[in-house]
Amino acid sequence: MTGAGAFITFEGGDGSGKSTQIKLLHDRLVAENIGVVITREPGGTLIGEQIRKVILDPQNIEMTSKTEMFLYAAARAQIADEVIWPALREGKVVICDRFLDSSVAYQGVARGLGRMVEEVNIPAAGGLVPDLTIYLKIEPDEGLDRTGNRKDRMELQDIMYHRSVAEGYRMIAERNPLRVKVLDATESITLLRNKIWDTVAVRLAKKGYSVR
Ligand code: TMP
Repeated sequence: MTGAGAFITFEGGDGSGKSTQIKLLHDRLVAENIGVVITREPGGTLIGEQIRKVILDPQNIEMTSKTEMFLYAAARAQIADEVIWPALREGKVVICDRFLDSSVAYQGVARGLGRMVEEVNIPAAGGLVPDLTIYLKIEPDEGLDRTGNRKDRMELQDIMYHRSVAEGYRMIAERNPLRVKVLDATESITLLRNKIWDTVAVRLAKKGYSVR
């Protein structure tokens, strides 16, 4: 539980269009006069952005699955304490591009690390659980097509890996029906924006925010 503030995460396979929708949601919240902070994982802090470079560098082919998992968890520990908790304590809405579900799908399921991912990330996330997660679902082949030619180390994993990630997300959504809203990432930007706002507005109203 987050107490004050509201913690909203966006999840999806690579190329699912999260950044576009996060920007649109941010603009809408600003228009509603609601304090909002956007951040991303891995990254969102000076230290986290340095960790991001190491994780995503295509030259780091020797990186083991466990090292990868710990690096994501380390970036998460930093962003939780430096950015997310302080903003929530100020009553802000925090929108995070990816969070713990990414580790469960990409490292837990697709890399096969299983429950170790949750065990490591309980202290890393410091008790943070999103109030709402928007999952933009896309077929892995289509998503990877959208990511273009300059692919990072994760995008360069083979298609079977990305299909396991999608299976991971399917399981996460099935296990957390109240928290995770599944939307079709191939719908038009405007339609998605409207559906996301409808979902967010209901959740924020329940948390006591005044929304139109
Ligand atoms: P991004 O491109 O959406 O910023 O995410 C960076 C990549 O890192 C993306 O391929 C998903 C991957 N990732 C993980 O594998 N585990 C994690 O915990 C996070 C946050 C991201």
